[in-house]
Amino acid sequence: MLQFTEQEKQGVYKAIEGRRDIRSFLNTPLPEDAIQRILEAGHHAPSVGFMQPWNFIMVTDQEIKDKLAYAADKERRALAIHYEGTDRSEGFMKIKVQGLQEAPLTICITNDPTRGGSHVLGRNSIPETDVLSVACAIQNMWLASCAEGIALGWVSFYKKADVREILGIPPHIEPVALLSLGYTNEYPDRPLLEILQWEKRRNLQELIFKNGWGVQK
Ligand SMILES: Cc1cc2nc3c(=O)[nH]c(=O)nc-3n(C[C@H](O)[C@H](O)[C@H](O)COP(=O)(O)O)c2cc1C
Repeated sequence: MLQFTEQEKQGVYKAIEGRRDIRSFLNTPLPEDAIQRILEAGHHAPSVGFMQPWNFIMVTDQEIKDKLAYAADKERRALAIHYEGTDRSEGFMKIKVQGLQEAPLTICITNDPTRGGSHVLGRNSIPETDVLSVACAIQNMWLASCAEGIALGWVSFYKKADVREILGIPPHIEPVALLSLGYTNEYPDRPLLEILQWEKRRNLQELIFKNGWGVQK
């Protein structure tokens, strides 16, 4: 087994607990070497049957970022209807999507369900394990960005068809997430949605069951 010094171990937990979803970015350019390390972190994620179903579309062109931001804002406005007339309406409209325009880099991370052919080890019983693998890559990138001092925001408010059209993605490839990356001077120590009093962190002890569903003692 790998051995970690106490300091290295603290570093891992610091990234896990300090990682935040960020919506506001400075337009300061990002160092290429740090971006490369973040991509390597994503590429070292676990994947079902070692399928590695991801691709990374690196978007730096402002016109394309504006189109992606428009698609996300369109979806946000469509979703807002669900909260109209509720006490969540105001909070929902405060969720920023302009981060996609501000951040110097947006990475569209995709899933290719056909990679590895039709018999990827372990994927026959739970087909969505391909997307779960991409989610593992995203979390690795998020932690690596955090360690690099680069903020990252995960945007999933969009219609896949819009993102496919903007980025020329073929129909069988799924755009799983739009990740905005950039430096920021707005880095909260708690989730933004907690600060907006949208949700709070649940009590971990209440989520742990022993030897069967619902058994807490
Ligand atoms: C699968 C997934 C999709 C998400 N999509 C969005 C999104 O579309 N817009 C957004 O503002 N945040 C999005 N987030 C970020 C969450 O809102 C955020 O992770 C959560 O509020 C907890 O905050 P924290 O990441 O700072 O701990 C997403 C996160 C995940 C894991």
